[in-house]
Amino acid sequence: MPSVDFHGYDASAGYTYGFCPEMAPDWLDLAATMAGSAPARASGDAPFRYLELGCGQGMGLCLLAAANPQGQFVGVDFLPEHVDHGRAVAQAAGLTNIQFSDGDFVALAQQWPAAFGQFDYVTLHGVYSWITPPVRAALVRCLGQATAPGGLVYIGYNAQPGWLGSVPFRHISRLLKEESDQPSEAVVQASIALFDQLAAGGANSFRILPGLKSRLAAVKRQASNYLIHEYLHEGWHPLWHSEVAKEVADGGLAFVGTASLAETLLPGALPPPLGATIAEQASSVLRMDVQDLVINQSFRRDVFRPASSSASVASDAVLDAMMLRLLKPVDGDSLTIATSFSEITLQAPAYAEIVAALGSGARSMGELLALPAMRKQGRSNALQIIALLLHARIAGIGRSAPASIQTVQGLNQFIANGAARGRRYDHLAAAALGSAVAVTPDDLLLFDAWLAAEGRTDATSLAAACGEGGAPAAGDTAITPERAAVFLDQTLERWRKLGVVA
Ligand SMILES: C[S@@+](CC[C@H](N)C(=O)[O-])C[C@H]1O[C@@H](n2cnc3c(N)ncnc32)[C@H](O)[C@@H]1O
Repeated sequence: MPSVDFHGYDASAGYTYGFCPEMAPDWLDLAATMAGSAPARASGDAPFRYLELGCGQGMGLCLLAAANPQGQFVGVDFLPEHVDHGRAVAQAAGLTNIQFSDGDFVALAQQWPAAFGQFDYVTLHGVYSWITPPVRAALVRCLGQATAPGGLVYIGYNAQPGWLGSVPFRHISRLLKEESDQPSEAVVQASIALFDQLAAGGANSFRILPGLKSRLAAVKRQASNYLIHEYLHEGWHPLWHSEVAKEVADGGLAFVGTASLAETLLPGALPPPLGATIAEQASSVLRMDVQDLVINQSFRRDVFRPASSSASVASDAVLDAMMLRLLKPVDGDSLTIATSFSEITLQAPAYAEIVAALGSGARSMGELLALPAMRKQGRSNALQIIALLLHARIAGIGRSAPASIQTVQGLNQFIANGAARGRRYDHLAAAALGSAVAVTPDDLLLFDAWLAAEGRTDATSLAAACGEGGAPAAGDTAITPERAAVFLDQTLERWRKLGVVA
């Protein structure tokens, strides 16, 4: 059956179940504050309203709703399959602070529903550079109407020039789709086969465009439903920051900064001549586009806010009051962190003190900055180290008081259960973070078996119970008693501290 397109969007397959920590309300407040702008809320415990436009399967929104009972969440998507999944998850998990709406940006822009009102946080991830220009214009009108004064808008999008190597694959895939009556999944596979033939035959493009070969290799590692959403829409169009900034200005929004916290080190972390070339550009959009040229940017996480409130400036006190927690322990004397522009190696005193302090519980940014090694670094360098630890998922934004985990329990049980039955869920809600943590398929399988045994089990029985449920979640090796022991002794302990499990 040929695929069905709405406004040029290929609606033939459901999307993935991803979660992006940069979309959590506390993370967005931190990103705004690090950029010198005020957060959307005065404190992490204050109530708020949060809207996700193009929320996909709704998994990310459910995770945030469970971990932030003080927030009200609304998810909008025009694919019934997506909205139905989000609603089913919310209902099964007993979430009462979330609602899903099967809305289309074009219709919503004509009449923004009075019942929706305005929101402190409006987010869209993987949407803006996938839709046609008229739908983008409608989406910008939605942003203008939906964002409360002082609110923050997050837009995560495919950026240039990092996607230039994908242009041939995208072009031929889309053309194959238009020229054939094959289902979208078959189109993607036919396109991969065609590019394999071209590569094997020594087509000139593979020699001249070095990015083409690595993109093709990446495409082959990805699931069909992801590839359909990535490449087959009429409107697929990676954008430069300047293009997005100019378009959203029509909705009254001004650029605040990046939620990709490692990029707050730029341009200072680049070789001095390149940093100087960026700095000498005459406008903010030119500086950003030249910087993206330097790092070969491929995905941006931009934060905007209504221009009328963009002058509200954050004080050091606001930043110092923000809380952090440890997500995973770190050994050794040095730590290498991969970023979008290079690998950065931190030496032990610079980060070990932070990791050690967070090891005994949540700490405020101010407390971390006051640690001896951090004072030696100076405030600006110390903040960069903390930004890198957040980016590397070694630290997370935290809550000072251990939050009640009532609201996350139902969702996490649902996720473990679904994963054990083959759903590719990969995060659990964490009440102490107001966010979620990444988990492996094996951890979810073990968690499901542990919940089924109501926590009364040992490593040998737990490993055996995982085997009884069918194939291992990862589809490879069976769970051993040693692996189950690590789960019981270490993973559960870490999850308890993060408010994943009671
Ligand atoms: C690539 S997916 C990203 C989904 C989700 N944000 C994520 O990152 O997992 C883009 C989403 O935008 C939705 N979408 C595209 N055009 C839309 C429109 N005109 N109105 C509402 N939703 C739309 C699609 O249904 C899809 O769920």
